[in-house]
Amino acid sequence: MIRSAVEAADSESGGRVPVSVKFRLGIDDEHLTYIDAGRIAEAEGAAAVALHARTALDHYGPPARREAIAELKDVVVSIPVLGNGDIATADDALSMMRDTGCDGVVIGRGCLGRPWLFAELEAALCGRPPPFPPSLGEVADVIRRHVALLVESSGDVVRLAPFRKHLAWYLKGYPVGSELRKAAARVGTVDDVEAVLSRLDRDAPAPEGAAGFNRSHTDPLRRVALPDGWLDDPYELPALGSPLAVHSGG
Ligand SMILES: Cc1cc2nc3c(=O)[nH]c(=O)nc-3n(C[C@H](O)[C@H](O)[C@H](O)COP(=O)(O)O)c2cc1C
Repeated sequence: MIRSAVEAADSESGGRVPVSVKFRLGIDDEHLTYIDAGRIAEAEGAAAVALHARTALDHYGPPARREAIAELKDVVVSIPVLGNGDIATADDALSMMRDTGCDGVVIGRGCLGRPWLFAELEAALCGRPPPFPPSLGEVADVIRRHVALLVESSGDVVRLAPFRKHLAWYLKGYPVGSELRKAAARVGTVDDVEAVLSRLDRDAPAPEGAAGFNRSHTDPLRRVALPDGWLDDPYELPALGSPLAVHSGG
């Protein structure tokens, strides 16, 4: 699969599109595949690998296992190894790179409602002091831009219901008040969003420790659903009765 993707990207783009490969530790602790996956990706022409240092069974529950990223870095030597899991602040990124020797990090939940995390990371990686965390007014401006981009990309049909969770993440920790939070949880139109934003206290400063708030998934799984016979022999192609549902395991 990786070789096919690399060859297709090379031929379609004249070698300009790098293919990176991201994987988890494996299915569960009895089926750890990340070292094999890294070696294969490197051998088949991937430009970089990224390890989400949890198993599929871990889902988003336990902390990412940094020691596994360090181990992968020892094995994959000719392409960058990126670490992933639990990066919520620039300090998290620096400490992951220091602890594991990885070449960079991949951001997951840490940027939900906090897209300025990338500016903080850039400053930290360039040795500059972090930018000042945004006031509630600055957050409102980011939300307006996010909504404008959604409208621009969605054409005629603008569905803002899926945006409600982002609005909640943006406002987390700021002194918003329960009435406005309830209104934020019900927005359906751009005007609804504006009605919430226009009533925020623009001068309210960023809350302490906002980065640590839980966002999106946080749970482990009880079991991983796999095609029948999948684990019996890793080298045998399983016979799939019907096309697999396509979804990202993250
Ligand atoms: C809402 C959401 C969507 C995601 N979508 C993808 C995806 O499309 N592809 C992917 O490789 N990982 C995806 N992930 C997983 C993240 O890239 C990342 O591996 C994971 O969240 C672990 O990092 P974290 O602990 O910093 O959140 C997603 C995660 C979340 C929370």
